[in-house]
Amino acid sequence: MLIIMRKELKLRINMKATAAAPSNIAFIKYWGKKDEKLRLPANSSISVNLSGLKTTTTVKFSKEYKQDKVQINGQVNKKESIRVVEHLDRIRKLAKIELKAKVVSVNNFPKSSGLASSASGFAALTVAATSAAGLKLSEKQLTILARLGSGSACRSIPDGFVEWIAGKTHQSSFARSIYPAKYWDISILVALVEGEKKKVSTTSGHKLARTSPFFGTRLKNINRKISLIKHLIKEKKFREFGQLVENESLEMHAIMLTSTPSLIYWQPATVAVMRHVRDLRHQGLPVYFTIDAGPHLFLICQNSDLTSITERLKTGRFIKKIILNRPARGIILTSNHLF
Ligand code: PMV
Repeated sequence: MLIIMRKELKLRINMKATAAAPSNIAFIKYWGKKDEKLRLPANSSISVNLSGLKTTTTVKFSKEYKQDKVQINGQVNKKESIRVVEHLDRIRKLAKIELKAKVVSVNNFPKSSGLASSASGFAALTVAATSAAGLKLSEKQLTILARLGSGSACRSIPDGFVEWIAGKTHQSSFARSIYPAKYWDISILVALVEGEKKKVSTTSGHKLARTSPFFGTRLKNINRKISLIKHLIKEKKFREFGQLVENESLEMHAIMLTSTPSLIYWQPATVAVMRHVRDLRHQGLPVYFTIDAGPHLFLICQNSDLTSITERLKTGRFIKKIILNRPARGIILTSNHLF
């Protein structure tokens, strides 16, 4: 009986799978955790998937492999591999297999630059590896599992506009779609600015949040903010929405700036573009910024203003490159394997 069951399990495992995951940008941010190990966030967050920033990952389990092999953007990096192998171990445990894996992953955007490659990266790894291991998990369970790899990764699995419910336990902290990608005609322009590679990882940064004297105040108001942003998205009230998103990003950076030690993710060019965005608003163009743990900016506008805003942004000296994004669907499995 046991032998038959093992055989069936083997047949169920298609051994190799590929997933393509969008990155996401949070309108209400996740900064600080209430449980380090389970990656339970201090507060819920709201995001949208980005059509132009993507990670594609192929995972294959095979008895031919003597150890896990992890290649990211054509390179083997020991430090990054450790986190990937830890995640593979979680998936092997769930699938009750011991096979080693080969993982090949590519981003279409610069990594460790504040463009959240860990979000799309761990989302793609979770879905490719569980599928290759023959696990059939619901979307909710996939988001719970992805969260253990990197918190924001859970938001790259559901479609479009997404809420990550903070929860108090492992099973109650998950992400779900609140509106499909096509719900709202907005664009998110990633403005890449001059800047060094990120020095403090978000994993280390989250630990510092509680050292800011303002963190308690942030948490006191956050649920009200979550309700408000959901209402503004629902009603498509763009200007109020944009203002709230921009203020929220500045609040997260206020926590970072006032932590001990203090974190400054901005570069001079970051501040220059913030000012440029505000000038554009004074000229009557509704565009708002949000910034993650890096120097680059995510500029949000309505599609009807996209051409005029892009043209004006190009006149500034500080933006090296603009990547256009629309709200995107969540993760997909594809047969375009990377090996
Ligand atoms: O998922 P992590 O640990 O990389 O944290 C992401 C944190 C921010 O990008 C700064 C904010 C967010 O909600 O995405």
